[in-house]
Amino acid sequence: MTFLLTWLYNIVWWIVSSYITFRFVRSTHVLLRSIWAHFFSTPLDLKPYQDSWTVVTGCTDGIGRAYIEELAKARGIRKFYLIGRNPEKLNKINNELTSRYNCEIKTAIFDFEKDDLDRIIDLPGFRDLEVGILSMCLSRAS
Ligand SMILES: NC(=O)c1ccc[n+]([C@@H]2O[C@H](COP(=O)([O-])OP(=O)(O)OC[C@H]3O[C@@H](n4cnc5c(N)ncnc54)[C@H](OP(=O)(O)O)[C@@H]3O)[C@@H](O)[C@H]2O)c1
Repeated sequence: MTFLLTWLYNIVWWIVSSYITFRFVRSTHVLLRSIWAHFFSTPLDLKPYQDSWTVVTGCTDGIGRAYIEELAKARGIRKFYLIGRNPEKLNKINNELTSRYNCEIKTAIFDFEKDDLDRIIDLPGFRDLEVGILSMCLSRAS
């Protein structure tokens, strides 16, 4: 009986300590990568994409909004084709990017949950767009 309990204890101890070690190593890895990316890595040269269009979905909030801000403010991107489902939010961003960074903006209304994805190519001016960067930052879409 004692042997069985010891054996069980060892198994549980091994599982718990493995899990904690795994989480610790993973978190440390993420932290070190973030420090490296933020302070030491060389930013990707986006100059080749400055004359083409940057298409962004999910740009009215969260990561997408932060992404276009960073591209315009710090990376010299000036041409944005913004796809969203809320015209007011898109207009607001259009005004902000135009006044702050003198960006050229095209906006298009598209709901990725309700609209037919095959029709996205029919959005105004989308078919002839010369796309340099595509950033899909949607929170969810069916
Ligand atoms: N935030 C984080 O720390 C984080 C970390 C890792 C991964 N992610 C992932 O990154 C993605 C974006 O996260 P987030 O925090 O930026 O989300 P968010 O703040 O909720 O922003 C989501 C964006 O997607 C748009 N959107 C949602 N449903 C849409 C639809 N059906 N059609 C068109 N546009 C739609 C929203 O437009 P409206 O303004 O019209 O709602 C908004 O612009 C998610 O998949 C998330 O899981 C996030």
